[in-house]
Amino acid sequence: MATSTPREGILSDELASEREQLVGLLKQAYFMELETVMSYVANSVNPDGVRAQEVKESLDEDIQEELGHAQQFAARIKELYGVVPGSLEFTAEQTFLQPAEHQTDIVHVIKGVIAAETGAIEHYNKMVEFCDDKDLVTQDMVIAILRDEEGHRRLFEGYLREYQAEGLA
Ligand SMILES: [Fe+2]
Ligand SMILES: [Fe+2]
Repeated sequence: MATSTPREGILSDELASEREQLVGLLKQAYFMELETVMSYVANSVNPDGVRAQEVKESLDEDIQEELGHAQQFAARIKELYGVVPGSLEFTAEQTFLQPAEHQTDIVHVIKGVIAAETGAIEHYNKMVEFCDDKDLVTQDMVIAILRDEEGHRRLFEGYLREYQAEGLA
């Protein structure tokens, strides 16, 4: 049986329950981005050492980009008749991006960033799949954000390679 997307798409009554599920996924994405902002602010400041400089600067640049992602998710929640959640609904999950025991441990930071980006990539791929045949506007937005996260992960995988090549990671 072939199904077709209703004319009003994701804003239609027919897709009310899918819309609700999608708003749930968007809220999760929104909080993931904001937690990433917190983690990147801390890790763009904490590390010590000459070699940490590049990583700190790179994270410093990413902060605005991740914040922009959070704002895009918030706007889309609103457009889908949802309400952007308050801070009390937030639960922290990024155990891997907590400060290292020693602030010269830059490998800890690099691995934490890769884990955060991988978590985002997994969630956004799930969203892209969910949006198929339901909401191409959200899908388009998430694909663009997904590309940013893939770029971030690739950059930090490059940093990690350098340390691995030297037997330091
Ligand atoms: Fe992001
Ligand atoms: Fe990212």
